[in-house]
Amino acid sequence: MLVNLQEVLSYAEKNQWAIGAFNTPNLECIMAVLQNAESYQVPVIIAHAQAHERVMPLETIGPIMVLCAKKSRVPVCVHLDHGESPDYIEKALELGFTSVMYDGSKLSFDENVENTRRAVKLSRKFKAGIEAEIGVMASSSVSSEGANGTAGIYTDPEVAKKFVELTGIDALAASFGTVHGIYTEKPRLDFQRIEKIKELTGTPLVMHGGSGLSDDDYITAIKKGVRKINYYTYMSRAAALASKELLNRHDGVMFHDVALEAMKAMKEDTRRAMKVFYSIS
Ligand code: 13P
Repeated sequence: MLVNLQEVLSYAEKNQWAIGAFNTPNLECIMAVLQNAESYQVPVIIAHAQAHERVMPLETIGPIMVLCAKKSRVPVCVHLDHGESPDYIEKALELGFTSVMYDGSKLSFDENVENTRRAVKLSRKFKAGIEAEIGVMASSSVSSEGANGTAGIYTDPEVAKKFVELTGIDALAASFGTVHGIYTEKPRLDFQRIEKIKELTGTPLVMHGGSGLSDDDYITAIKKGVRKINYYTYMSRAAALASKELLNRHDGVMFHDVALEAMKAMKEDTRRAMKVFYSIS
């Protein structure tokens, strides 16, 4: 069933989970994630990033995401990830998305506040949830999102408090050591910072750059207040590596074989992540 961000976050708060927010630029990703969520009977978020417009237009995949969410046997929130322009955000809401992220993290504080407030107003008109970001998330050199090599600027807890008070958002994306893309060295997360941000804002926190971390890092981040984990790179990489192996194994492999193999690999990868996010034994 299709639900909004506030609803999935309330499950997260009640159960001390982080809801998995998986980017789904194609049907195989959507199916892999929803099949897992149904088999574990947990709420989930499927997301389309504005940066994936070149992979799949929002107008094509958006209605499919909404339809799959409506048909699902578990609560599914359909989210726009890293929306940068008001038009794009409005388009997602008109397509039936139940959550949007406005990303003004590279703007000045005042501009970010002003644009986020507009996005909050718009999302309320559609009864959708809204996430925004303060501090800048870094991207590794192997990332499908953001400018490569962008240096991260960690979120200042006091600034985060002011940002949340001025905007009234439902969830806050904070930068504390994760990066979008493949980790080239072991990440060292600033858990004290995340704890302080949670304490000062009282708002559910979002971890971007959430794939490729250890189980211990996920567990600690969830304990400190992370309630939504954005996940894509490592599931996509798992699909690519499984496809390569299949192509090397046989001649005469068809594209539908590759798509199935890729979906199987994404299902395995996201299943492992979900077990930790929802503390499933
Ligand atoms: P990863 O690149 O770690 O999968 O992060 C995805 C993400 O944060 C989407 O917003």
